[in-house]
Amino acid sequence: MALPILNKTFSPVSWFLLLIVLQQFSQINVASSSGGSLEYFSVRDNHFEGQILKSLRNCTSLVRIRVERNQFIGNMSEDFGIYPSLKLLHLCSNKFQGPISSNLGKCPQLGTLKIAGNDIDGMIPPEIGNSTQLHELDLSSNHLIGEIPLELGKLSSLNRLMLNGNKLSGLVPLELGSLTELEYLDLSENRFSKLVPENLGHWLKLHYLNLSNNEFSQGIPVELGDLVQLSALDLSRNMFREEVPSQIGKLETLEKLNISHNNLSGSLPRAFEEMHGLSCIDISHNEFCGPIPNSQAFRNASIEALQGNKGLCGNISGLQPCKTVTITSGKHRKGWIIFIEVVFPVAGAVAISMVVALRILVLFRKRKRDSDEQQRSANNGGFFGVLVLEIFKGKHPKEFLSSFSTLSPNRIIELHDMLDQRLPCPSLEIKDKLISIMEVAFSCLHVNPESRPTMQYVSQLLSK
Ligand SMILES: *[C@@H]1O[C@H](CO)[C@@H](O)[C@H](O)[C@H]1NC(C)=O
Ligand SMILES: *[C@@H]1O[C@H](CO)[C@@H](O)[C@H](O)[C@H]1NC(C)=O
Ligand SMILES: *[C@@H]1O[C@H](CO)[C@@H](O)[C@H](O)[C@H]1NC(C)=O
Ligand SMILES: *[C@@H]1O[C@H](CO)[C@@H](O)[C@H](O)[C@H]1NC(C)=O
Ligand SMILES: *[C@@H]1O[C@H](CO)[C@@H](O)[C@H](O)[C@H]1NC(C)=O
Ligand SMILES: *[C@@H]1O[C@H](CO)[C@@H](O)[C@H](O)[C@H]1NC(C)=O
Ligand SMILES: *[C@@H]1O[C@H](CO)[C@@H](O)[C@H](O)[C@H]1NC(C)=O
Ligand SMILES: *[C@@H]1O[C@H](CO)[C@@H](O)[C@H](O)[C@H]1NC(C)=O
Repeated sequence: MALPILNKTFSPVSWFLLLIVLQQFSQINVASSSGGSLEYFSVRDNHFEGQILKSLRNCTSLVRIRVERNQFIGNMSEDFGIYPSLKLLHLCSNKFQGPISSNLGKCPQLGTLKIAGNDIDGMIPPEIGNSTQLHELDLSSNHLIGEIPLELGKLSSLNRLMLNGNKLSGLVPLELGSLTELEYLDLSENRFSKLVPENLGHWLKLHYLNLSNNEFSQGIPVELGDLVQLSALDLSRNMFREEVPSQIGKLETLEKLNISHNNLSGSLPRAFEEMHGLSCIDISHNEFCGPIPNSQAFRNASIEALQGNKGLCGNISGLQPCKTVTITSGKHRKGWIIFIEVVFPVAGAVAISMVVALRILVLFRKRKRDSDEQQRSANNGGFFGVLVLEIFKGKHPKEFLSSFSTLSPNRIIELHDMLDQRLPCPSLEIKDKLISIMEVAFSCLHVNPESRPTMQYVSQLLSK
């Protein structure tokens, strides 16, 4: 076979390696340039340059082409032939240009296609869907544009798909969900903007998912929790918003989680504590608030992995300790519950904002002024206590209070646990106010009406 690359200059090392390669050729009976029986061609990791694809174009017998990490040039869409027996094409880290050849779809045996790190542009040709034997497709670090063609969904044997480092956009097509053999998926550093939850449900073998550096601006789909084999999940540098769904706790084998640089908010779900495999987390630069989950990964986290949030608290150097509410009348635990059952039998969970809460407080104070009768005040105090807790928590506190199995006289609860998880994080100043209101509310829940503060007293406390 005539190798046009021999006309080019390359280092002595390359010469040596080429001799070895040529020796191999002689063993497998090298054909002439008009075609023949050349099956394996490998000149990887050299300094070769020139138009290698053009010179291989007519070698239709090729089974494996490995030219990675050289300086080859050429226009892939023009110079790439049709190879009916081609199983492996490895062109990574060269200087190939032009769009991906649609001839690839005419290589029905193709199992591995790696063209990462070139200057390939244009769209991904739908014909790639015809190479149904593909199990590894690496098109990363090129200049590909447009959407992922739906036809990729036909690659039912695909294990590894790397499209990262391009300019791909739009939604990740539903059809990708049918790639049930997928183990490794890297879509990072593109411009994808939407992930359809149905995409996720079938990737039961997926252990690596990288969606970082895109434009996803939705909530994290709860279906992510179904990817139970995941060991690394990177959602960083997007616009994911709302809360982290508690379904994430189903990812028991997840080791590495990066959700930094998003617009996630609310508190971190307790479900993190069930993720026993987790060893490395990064939740920095979001809007998270509330306590850090009690797990080794969080205790071990550096402050860099937690910083830039709204109000995280916990026993970790660099974070403020969590605010707590102290309940001082714990002797009559049973009494509270009975009292609540009597005073407030039917109360559905209501989502009332802090604004409404404060309005009601004002209302109560006003009402109080109209009333002189001592007993009624006491009752109002009890009612007030339940109502405050219900408003803060977003649901009736009965369930919450009955969850206390043992109560020491001075029970300490994290403020966070008493607040409606759906509301935005309160500021530090508001937190202090909430704590004092809540402590009053708890004292109003005393089983013995005489031990409850009167509304007059409550109103004095609150107007401080
Ligand atoms: C490939 O074969 C065609 C004829 O089949 C011929 O015209 C062309 O010159 C060949 N190309 C190379 C690079 O040898
Ligand atoms: C590569 O070839 C295609 C098809 O002939 C052409 O449209 C494109 O402009 C070429 N690209 C480069 C960089 O030469
Ligand atoms: C290859 O794919 C294209 C587009 O997806 C399709 O139109 C064509 O029929 C396919 N060819 C073969 C031989 O399967
Ligand atoms: C995800 O991809 C980015 C590149 O876009 C890379 O920097 C990061 O390390 C990857 N994350 C993981 C967990 O491998
Ligand atoms: C998480 O992702 C961000 C941005 O992509 C990166 O800067 C950071 O190093 C990653 N954290 C870890 C622990 O890998
Ligand atoms: C983050 O989300 C909030 C609503 O949850 C929205 O008001 C805000 O604009 C978002 N921030 C960015 C930078 O998109
Ligand atoms: C905690 O961090 C140290 C180093 O930062 C690491 O060697 C160790 O494995 C980590 N432990 C866990 C349980 O993640
Ligand atoms: C805080 O953590 C340290 C060890 O990291 C532990 O000794 C201490 O008891 C913890 N304090 C509280 C209040 O949990």
